[in-house]
Amino acid sequence: MSRLDGRRVLLGVGGGIAAYKAAELVRALRRAGAEVRVVMTASAEEFVQPLTFQALSGHRVGTDLFDPSFEEDIGHIELARWAELVLVAPCTANLLARARAGMADDLLTTILLATTAPVLFCPAMNTQMWKHPAVQENIVVLERRPRSLVLHPDEGELACRETGPGRLPDPDVVLATAERALAGGQLRGKHVVVTAGPTREFFDPVRFLSNPSSGKMGYSLAAAAWSAGADVTLVSGPTSLPAPWGCRVVRVVSASDMRDAVLAERADVLIMAAAVADYTPVERSEHKRKKSDAPWDPALTRTPDILSELAQSPRRAPVVIGFAAETDDIIGNAVRKLESKRLDGIVANSVYGPTGAFGSDASTVTLIRRGGHRHEFGPHPKREVAEHIIEWVASSDFQ
Ligand code: CTP
Repeated sequence: MSRLDGRRVLLGVGGGIAAYKAAELVRALRRAGAEVRVVMTASAEEFVQPLTFQALSGHRVGTDLFDPSFEEDIGHIELARWAELVLVAPCTANLLARARAGMADDLLTTILLATTAPVLFCPAMNTQMWKHPAVQENIVVLERRPRSLVLHPDEGELACRETGPGRLPDPDVVLATAERALAGGQLRGKHVVVTAGPTREFFDPVRFLSNPSSGKMGYSLAAAAWSAGADVTLVSGPTSLPAPWGCRVVRVVSASDMRDAVLAERADVLIMAAAVADYTPVERSEHKRKKSDAPWDPALTRTPDILSELAQSPRRAPVVIGFAAETDDIIGNAVRKLESKRLDGIVANSVYGPTGAFGSDASTVTLIRRGGHRHEFGPHPKREVAEHIIEWVASSDFQ
C-alpha cells in the first residue's frame, strides 16, 4: 500500500507549459489512493482549463482568492488545514520567488503561508531561468525551511527546444518524493544500506558462476527506504534495473567487491537482499579458457560471508537484516541463519512457485525477528512487500 493511500494532497498548479503534466499527476495520485484537491494560479489557467482538474480530482478547482462561492465550498484557510501535503507542480520561477518572499497575492501563495503541512515544490522552467542565480538563491532558501522540499527538475529536451535541466520529473518520481515528504520521522536521518542482485565470480573473461537473482527485491527496498525518508546507498550486483530515484548506487561484480563496498559504508540499517555467490574460483584466468573434451573440475573456494562478518564486527550497524531463500524447511533454515549470523531480523522466502524468490514480480515472505516473533506477508507485488519490510524495519521494535 502506498504511503499516499488515504492521504489528502493539495496540488498547486503554476503557469508553465508543464501544467498539462499536472493532469497526469492528479491521476497518479488518485491511483495511489490519495484524495486530491487542485488550486491553480491565474497563469496556469492560460495553459489548462480548471474543468480538466475538476474532472480528474472530483472536486471543484480553486482559482481565485476572492471567489465567494469557492470560499463557501471550502475556504482557503480550511483548505490549507485540510492538506496533509501541498505539492506545487509545476512550480514556475515566479511562483518560487513569491513563495520565498512569503507573498500572499493569490489563492495558492496564501495557502502556502497558511498551511502547516509539508510543501513539495517541483520547479519546471527554461534551463537558463533555472540556472539564474536569483532562482538558485530562492531554491536554497526554500530548501532550508522546515517542512519545505524541492524536487529538482530533470534534464532533457524542453518545450523551448533547449536541452538541459528544467523538465518536470515523471509522475512516479514526483509520487516517490511526495511519499518521502509525508514519511514524517520514520527513517529520516538514517543511512540505510541495501544490497541487491546476484554477484558474478569469474573463471575467465567470459565465464562466471552466478545465480538467477534479478535484483527487484533489493531495488524495491532501496526505493521504499528512500520514500520513508532515509539516505540510501544501494550496493548492487549486475542487474538490468534502472537506479531507484534518490538512492546512491554503488555497482559491484563479485562477492569480494560487494564486501568492500558494504564495509566502506557507515550504516544505521543494513539490509542484505543480495544473492551473494557462496563460492568463487580459486584461480581466475586472464585469458579465455579453451574448451576440451576432458571433464572440467575447477577448484572453488568460499566467498566471504558479508552479512555474518558485518553483524559480528565492532562497526556493526544497529539494525542488520538478512534474507533466506530456501527450498525446504524455510522457517527452520531462516531461524538458524538469523541466530548463527547474529541478525536482528530475517526475511524468509521460498525459491519455488509463482512467488518464488528469484525473478518473479510477486513475493510471499515471512519476517522473523530475533527472539522468535514472526509474521507472514503476501503474496503481493515485490514493491508492496518491500514497503512492508521497510515499515517493519522502521517500527519501534527495531529502533
Ligand atoms: N550472504 C552474505 N554473504 C555471502 C552469502 C550470503 O552476506 N557470501 C547473505 C545474503 O545476502 C543473505 C543471507 O546471507 O542475506 C543468506 O544467508 P546464507 O546462509 O548465506 O544463505 P545461502 O547462501 O542461501 O546459504 P545456504 O546455501 O547454506 O542455504
